[in-house]
Amino acid sequence: MKEKLHALETEALEQVEQANSLADLQQVRVSYLGKKGPITEVLRGMGKLSKEERPVIGELANKVREAITIAIEAKKQVLEEAVLNQQLKSETIDVTLPGRPVEVGGPHLLTSLVTEIEDLFIGMGFEVREGPEVETDYYNFEALNLPKDHPARDMQDTFYITEELLMRTHTSPVQARTMGEYRGSKPLKMICPGKVYRRDTDDATHSHQFTQVEGLYVDKNVRMSDLKGVLNQFAKQFFGAEREIRLRPSFFPFTEPSVEMDISCKVCHGKGCSVCKQTGWIEILGAGMVHPNVLEMAGYDSDVYSGFAFGMGPERIAMLKYGIDDIRQFYTNDRRFLGQYHQA
Ligand code: PHE
Repeated sequence: MKEKLHALETEALEQVEQANSLADLQQVRVSYLGKKGPITEVLRGMGKLSKEERPVIGELANKVREAITIAIEAKKQVLEEAVLNQQLKSETIDVTLPGRPVEVGGPHLLTSLVTEIEDLFIGMGFEVREGPEVETDYYNFEALNLPKDHPARDMQDTFYITEELLMRTHTSPVQARTMGEYRGSKPLKMICPGKVYRRDTDDATHSHQFTQVEGLYVDKNVRMSDLKGVLNQFAKQFFGAEREIRLRPSFFPFTEPSVEMDISCKVCHGKGCSVCKQTGWIEILGAGMVHPNVLEMAGYDSDVYSGFAFGMGPERIAMLKYGIDDIRQFYTNDRRFLGQYHQA
């Protein structure tokens, strides 16, 4: 019996030694220490032993069991550590490997420009307003002193949806809407950026959809000199302090007098070159003093209130600022073009 136990011990320890995985080890545990294992069997058969033998064998069996248990525990730790090491090794990240490049986008050139224009005017106390792109004939034309059949409607070829609904041809209807909302109750100072639509055939300088930024200032005693001051401030901040502006007489049905603003050519500084078509000046926007009819229709007393308005096209401004020669570049979303204007 003693020999059998010693042999079992040697055999079990050998098996523990040979176990290469936790599963193997568990197998060894079950086969030697389990309920049906040889040691349990020995202990169960103790009844058949003599009185003298019983304590000796019992003690030995317990010792053997303990020795095997300790060996299994020790091996278990070794194996667990190995598993952990393996896992750590397989999950290591090589931080020196080059990463996958992340493509970074940025705001569209027009978005950046409109934001820049907005910021300049916000700095001068203007609030930013918006209006619908599908507009009524009333706000797009009539409220701007352009009754039905007025010949000046031809200045802006229009996409009509129904007889009374159209795609707005400019952002000026937002003037009429905002004034109409206040109905003469208080002064207002707003700009309105947005998309506008005209029935034009697309080419390098025309697009059936483009952007405008409208400005409107209505208060008591607003004068032409205020318009000039604000536009001069805008031009100098936006294009550079060295640029000059000039106002030329023009015509818009909703302003009287009406002007067009030019800035001095940055290439020739007013001397005349191919960029400014030898004039020394580049046309930037339309503007004027709000026509009394427009004020009155929106509920402002034109004897008390006066105002100025202006409208500019950011595409045109961008084309001048960056020397872009085709307006379609803004809309075809060629990332090689747009990417050049992403600010870092
Ligand atoms: N709405 C005019 C246009 O689209 C521009 C403009 C706005 C002119 C405000 C004067 C005053 O051509």
